[in-house]
Amino acid sequence: MIKPDGVQRRLVGKIVQRLEEKGLRIAGLKLIRMEHKTAENLYSVHKGKPFYDGLVKFMTSGPAVVMVVEGFNAIEVVRKLMGATFGFNAEPGTIRGDYGCSKGFNLVHGSDSVDSVKRELPIFFTEKELVAYEHPDLAWVVEEPERK
Ligand code: RTP
Ligand code: MG
Repeated sequence: MIKPDGVQRRLVGKIVQRLEEKGLRIAGLKLIRMEHKTAENLYSVHKGKPFYDGLVKFMTSGPAVVMVVEGFNAIEVVRKLMGATFGFNAEPGTIRGDYGCSKGFNLVHGSDSVDSVKRELPIFFTEKELVAYEHPDLAWVVEEPERK
């Protein structure tokens, strides 16, 4: 997800480009204005923490771009592309490391496990909104024996 700061700072194209160039496949994508209840649900694991209320307020403060991204080891790959949680200590070369220097305004969210994907994906997408297709260069992105 590209959080409201990423949209307001006109970084949507650059962030999507990083996912594409890495060799991932975009299976779903849309611009949303997140409801308060949705943000509370998305970040329910953080309920009660000092930053929770501010986080929910931030996530509902403007449009966000939600995506379903598929690829080999996609969860790990996307989390690496995102970088560490806070921009000021995220590695250069990562999205947060290159574009952010804040704790809360950290541009992107990504599911951190298969269980998170199973919980978070249906919050934003129905089955019908996901599009199946194959990139013609897939054979050059991942070697055949690796494609399990
Ligand atoms: P995310 O869930 O957004 O992908 O980020 P993350 O896994 O890297 O970080 P997480 O620990 O899950 O924290 C969720 C979001 O809460 C905000 N946060 N603020 N002020 C603080 O100390 C603090 N700690 C976390 C960040 O926006 C973080 O992305
Ligand atoms: Mg998280």
